[in-house]
Amino acid sequence: MSHRSFFEVAAISRAEPRDLDAICEIEHRCFLGPTAYSEDVLRGLLLSDNADCLVLRHRGKIAAFAILVCSSEALRADIETIDVDPAFRGRGFARQLLVAVEQCAELRKMREIELEVACSNSAAFRLYQSAGFTVRARLVRYYRFLHHGTHDAYRMIKVLSPDARCRS
Ligand SMILES: CC(C)(COP(=O)(O)OP(=O)(O)OC[C@H]1O[C@@H](n2cnc3c(N)ncnc32)[C@H](O)[C@@H]1OP(=O)(O)O)[C@@H](O)C(=O)NCCC(=O)NCCS
Repeated sequence: MSHRSFFEVAAISRAEPRDLDAICEIEHRCFLGPTAYSEDVLRGLLLSDNADCLVLRHRGKIAAFAILVCSSEALRADIETIDVDPAFRGRGFARQLLVAVEQCAELRKMREIELEVACSNSAAFRLYQSAGFTVRARLVRYYRFLHHGTHDAYRMIKVLSPDARCRS
């Protein structure tokens, strides 16, 4: 039986300041050294009025999180990241968070969602592609790290349906 046959009990909620430590730990399990967001950056996003930071709990433990930043001028939301703890991957948690993130963007009446993903990150690329995001541009040497080299990224977008924006 595939793991997809099991109902994975997961609860998504808004992150609280007390969730910061768990979020930082997952970020550092997902991204090495300077490629990870710092605690200060994550705290700033967690506390920002323009951002939605969601945590997904599995059996009471934070297993994943996602951060969306919205621009009310551009009516565009940016997915900063979706991070799933390596121990909890392949259970549909990222897909559940992505649905929740889209609902947040609709509630804020955004027109589209944008994100950047490293061209080498095939898991994340497929996640976004399968959820209806399309490549708008390839950004050459978008990520630049002193000891981790440079990496191209895809900028991907998804235009939100006007119906969904009206409903919310
Ligand atoms: C990318 C990531 C978020 C996926 O999390 P996940 O919970 O394992 O993903 P899900 O189980 O929800 O899978 C959803 C879809 O993503 C894609 N996907 C996930 N893992 C994949 C893999 N190893 N290879 C290829 N595609 C993959 C598939 O399209 C999958 O759908 P399917 O199972 O129907 O084929 C996770 O690997 C991760 O946290 N990576 C490190 C952080 C990161 O790179 N975040 C994205 C920053 S832009």
